[in-house]
Amino acid sequence: MSTEPKGVAAPARTAAGHRPARLGDALPEDLLDGAERLDAQELRALQLGRLRSTLRHAYDNVELYRRKFDAAGVAPEDCRTPEDLARFPFTTKADLRETYPFGMFAVPMEDVRRVHASSGTTGRPTVVGYTERDLSVWADLVARSIRAAGGRPGHKVHISYGYGLFTGGLGAHYGAERAGCTVIPASGGMTARQVQIITDFEPEIIMVTPSYMLTLLDEFERQGVDPRGTSLKVGIFGAEPWTEEMRREIEDRMDIHAVDIYGLSEVMGPGVAQECAETKDGLHVWEDHFYPEVVDPFETAVLPEGERGELVLTSLTKEALPVIRYRTRDLTRLLPGTARPAFRRIEKITGRSDDMIILRGVNVFPTQIEEIVLRTPAVAPHFQLELTRRGRMDRMTVRVEARPGAGAGQREAAAEAIAQGVKDGVGVSVEVTVVEPETLERSLGKIHRIKDLRGT
Ligand code: DLL
Repeated sequence: MSTEPKGVAAPARTAAGHRPARLGDALPEDLLDGAERLDAQELRALQLGRLRSTLRHAYDNVELYRRKFDAAGVAPEDCRTPEDLARFPFTTKADLRETYPFGMFAVPMEDVRRVHASSGTTGRPTVVGYTERDLSVWADLVARSIRAAGGRPGHKVHISYGYGLFTGGLGAHYGAERAGCTVIPASGGMTARQVQIITDFEPEIIMVTPSYMLTLLDEFERQGVDPRGTSLKVGIFGAEPWTEEMRREIEDRMDIHAVDIYGLSEVMGPGVAQECAETKDGLHVWEDHFYPEVVDPFETAVLPEGERGELVLTSLTKEALPVIRYRTRDLTRLLPGTARPAFRRIEKITGRSDDMIILRGVNVFPTQIEEIVLRTPAVAPHFQLELTRRGRMDRMTVRVEARPGAGAGQREAAAEAIAQGVKDGVGVSVEVTVVEPETLERSLGKIHRIKDLRGT
């Protein structure tokens, strides 16, 4: 059996008359939009103009920005090159919370056509808003992302990101429509029904969190449907960190291409950056609308291209909620463009600085454990990290499910292999408990891997 995912044959004739494409082919020239055809110099010029007008728009219309710029002694005109942006103050989630709900909107409320909100694990949610033009730009960028992933007009797109205040569902929805695709707005949950719909409606593309894809995969198998035999050819996965090991697991079990989509509500939603299917080498930041920097996660210094740190994003065209140097907490590094040469890439995100567990002085990210668990054959890709405290010692237990049919000996060997892998690869001792298949809670959207039982 070949482990090479199948190519995406576009429908023989599409409404827009585009020639069929196979996935893995570069995007045909006629499907690139205007900005995707710019060279690096033209893109930089476009960015600078947009950056300067965004700074002015934010300063003139949002009190918080005016206060912060004044306190830092900078004015919008001080930005003469993109590098000058480093002189401007950062924006954080705390700023949005402080001005809850609409205090950072830069246009009158009657010009705000839609709001979204992120749940926020602690405290107030953060609320974001969009003008009509913001919504149109968002749809364009998700459409561009879908094309980069291999989607073509005429494809059916099954959307299992949640619809509602979360940006995933509606963001993907309008983008897929803009791309000329047929949308199946499944939203999250009702897993058995989703499998039925995918089987009956035969979509080529699915947009979903990678962890919920695993839940769907198990459901296919439970219903006796071979997941490699479905109509799906491309999965556009994001909204949470995931690893190359997870990509391999999903591609092999489903015979699809799995590509990465990134975004966050404060900056827009899905479609800030997208991995191209032909290269699968990190995500191109759509730099005609967002200016990326990477900074020291604990300080303010901007890091040079190639160094790992925290991604900071500035919107370049947003009207309702311009964001200046927003600290995403997402850890990555900037790399030069490849499939879209003018657009820099971010490396696949390894985690968030606030998801980092400090275990007896060692920094541990859930993705590091994911890599090790997924390399261990006798266990399933479902795991949870439990933190407890005994005396003054913090302990972490990796609770991971056995694959169905794995015997006692295999489970014991798997537990040992994972513990050893974590000790060698991460540098810390953990306990590993292999639990029965189908006993850990399944993801229905964004997964929460960490269960902190340490108390206060
Ligand atoms: O998760 C937007 C989105 C929806 C992106 C669907 C992609 C697909 P928020 O709920 O505001 O927005 O959460 C944003 O999710 O700061 C990252 O920590 C994480 N995240 C999003 N995409 C990725 C990704 C949406 N591809 C937060 N890889 C971000 C890793 C991601 N983490």
